[in-house]
Amino acid sequence: MAALMDRAYVEMRPWTAQDISSTLASPHCHVLPDDHGFLIAQIVADEGEILALATDPVAQRQGVATSLLNQLITMAEDRGVARLVLEVASRNQSAQAFYRARRFAPVGLRRGYYTLRDGTKDDAALLSLVIAQGQHTPEPTSQGSDAKSG
Ligand SMILES: CC(C)(COP(=O)(O)OP(=O)(O)OC[C@H]1O[C@@H](n2cnc3c(N)ncnc32)[C@H](O)[C@@H]1OP(=O)(O)O)[C@@H](O)C(=O)NCCC(=O)NCCS
Repeated sequence: MAALMDRAYVEMRPWTAQDISSTLASPHCHVLPDDHGFLIAQIVADEGEILALATDPVAQRQGVATSLLNQLITMAEDRGVARLVLEVASRNQSAQAFYRARRFAPVGLRRGYYTLRDGTKDDAALLSLVIAQGQHTPEPTSQGSDAKSG
């Protein structure tokens, strides 16, 4: 997972294997795996937080992250979660586009929150998706059909 994250996180500092294993030690943490990516989330009470989402660059824009997010939303609905939240670097245009296309809304900004790979700082945009029980229509994924090459 750390190796995949290292390939996927272009500007962001990837997590180390130690970061990943200590996060996964929490009983609130859930990993959703895929052959080419993974999502790590924690669910506490009625809030779910996406802690990491990565798709291997060789498989990006083929629906992997959409499929993982849809699985998380289904899990969240089953557990009565009211909203999903996450932080994403302002400069991370691909992730910003991904979440906004999936109806996440900006709800806050944390200035200088991230230190990027090159040592510069970037703001974190706080995004949120309200989970309306039984109302969510999963985004279609292109996995297994007409996958885009990006
Ligand atoms: C963001 C990320 C997880 C998306 O994964 P993915 O498997 O490629 O996403 P999907 O194929 O399911 O969805 C693709 C959609 O995301 C958006 N998107 C992804 N990359 C994009 C890019 N470079 N430019 C614009 N939009 C992009 C688009 O809406 C795209 O839909 P389209 O291909 O129909 O235009 C992936 O780019 C990644 O691993 N990035 C590095 C790690 C990261 O930033 N994680 C998020 C921080 S929590």
